[in-house]
Amino acid sequence: MTWPACGTETAEPEPGPELLPRRGRDGSFSLYSRGCDEGFHSATGALREANEKFVVPAALERFAPGQELVVAEVAVGTGTNTAALLAATAAAGLDLDWWGLELDHRPLALALADAGFRAQWPAAVIGRLEGLAGGDRLRLGDARRLLPELLDMLAGRCHLVLLDAFSPPRCPQLWSREFLGRLVRLLRPDGRLLTYSSAAAVRRCLLELGLELRAIRPPDDEPERWSAGTAAGFTPLAPHPALRPLKPFEREHLASRAGVPYRDPTGTATAAEILERRRREQEHSDAPPARLPRRRGPGGLGCSEGHR
Ligand SMILES: C[S@@+](CC[C@H](N)C(=O)[O-])C[C@H]1O[C@@H](n2cnc3c(N)ncnc32)[C@H](O)[C@@H]1O
Repeated sequence: MTWPACGTETAEPEPGPELLPRRGRDGSFSLYSRGCDEGFHSATGALREANEKFVVPAALERFAPGQELVVAEVAVGTGTNTAALLAATAAAGLDLDWWGLELDHRPLALALADAGFRAQWPAAVIGRLEGLAGGDRLRLGDARRLLPELLDMLAGRCHLVLLDAFSPPRCPQLWSREFLGRLVRLLRPDGRLLTYSSAAAVRRCLLELGLELRAIRPPDDEPERWSAGTAAGFTPLAPHPALRPLKPFEREHLASRAGVPYRDPTGTATAAEILERRRREQEHSDAPPARLPRRRGPGGLGCSEGHR
């Protein structure tokens, strides 16, 4: 059986066991995509990841109760980040003006049909998520095609932009220089883009687009990781316990071949085409090869350079 290529827009996604339910270490609901051969969340767990990589670094305490937050979310998936943000903004007395882009309606439908997922949230949050799932604020299709329409409405207005696509090697369509260049135009001058990715190619693009970067600190119980993601804004991000400046070795890494961006000038290339183009550009690059500290524990990079 072959599964649809990762991130490919089809008339109607195939039904069938392409999306497999699974639970993270925190017990929360998640999915595994056989098409992308990648989980929707890290093994830590969807709920914990949503809070550690998106809600806490959003620093909602910056906003006064009653204020409206404009949020754009790319790759809504199961809606875990959305629900976590709905719960946190409600607790902080904030109103949420939410918009989402997602290729496939099935992950959110599967989550909402799962009793365990529903039990993760108060009924009011599930009710709002169901409303968003059935409304016109969740735009279904290839985010590259849908983004211009969102920009027409929201350019320069978003307090937060959440980018939670599959990893760059799996879904380079949503990490290209061109896509990121459009995406950051959603941000207000003091807005913040948040992503779990620490990939050099992504960070270098954001820097070249004029954004200031902070690394999202990994949790204390994951000392082998050097970064849990990236926060970026056009104005320097205020100091926050969840954020830290990039370290010298991370800046050096951006200048290595790992920093060669994913390119998709037409906004229609397949993942394979984008990866092949980058492979050729890396091959011809004068930049030094990537050198990164390795995990102190068994094997692998200590960050989301590639897969989650
Ligand atoms: C890592 S999962 C998202 C996880 C999600 N934030 C959650 O909490 O469940 C990546 C999502 O990106 C979606 N996706 C893949 N390619 C896409 C594209 N070109 N445009 C929009 N969404 C895409 C997938 O359908 C999948 O739901």
